[in-house]
Amino acid sequence: MIFTVAIDGPAAAGKGTISRAVAARFGFAYLDTGLLYRAVGAKGGDPVEAARTLSEADLARDDLRTLEAGQAASRVATIPEVREALVDFQRRFARRDGGAVLDGRDIGTVICPEAEVKLYVTASAQVRAHRRWLEVGGDEAQVLAEVMERDKRDADRAVSPLKAAADAVVIDTSDMGISEAVATAIDIVRARI
Ligand code: C5P
Repeated sequence: MIFTVAIDGPAAAGKGTISRAVAARFGFAYLDTGLLYRAVGAKGGDPVEAARTLSEADLARDDLRTLEAGQAASRVATIPEVREALVDFQRRFARRDGGAVLDGRDIGTVICPEAEVKLYVTASAQVRAHRRWLEVGGDEAQVLAEVMERDKRDADRAVSPLKAAADAVVIDTSDMGISEAVATAIDIVRARI
């Protein structure tokens, strides 16, 4: 079965948790596309070359989840040739047999406009920063500033800016616990299978 679930939204809205739960529930493969951009940013050197030669080992680095890696990712993600170099891999993953969940910023709009289900998962910047701060610690005000800076760069860039696809279902998780957000997403997918 070919079945793609595209899950987009800003940083720390709950995309990863929801995506993993949806993939596990329906037996679909899961791709965290942010990891591709994080790995390109972390590799150093020419980002276009890094994107064209990205390997499993690059994706397995254990320093890709830091705030710095997120900032570096959002910088290289503004480069059109970097995005182009990653398109084929993502599309092939999306259309693999057995179903796939991809989360990112442009899955429903650019990578898989034909996805069977599109979700746009969001929450207020304050709630997202608080969640991220619970994970990474440090100064909460600085985490909020970092989240807002990354939101702005992702939404303002010329190529594939962060935005909900016209046909995406919006899930605002500001006032939801994890289990409610996951159940909402699973109900939407189940109704379309
Ligand atoms: O989702 P995550 O926080 O890991 O993404 C890191 C950065 O990678 C984002 O801020 C965004 O700039 C970029 N990104 C993107 N397109 C995607 C996934 C991530 O531009 N599909």
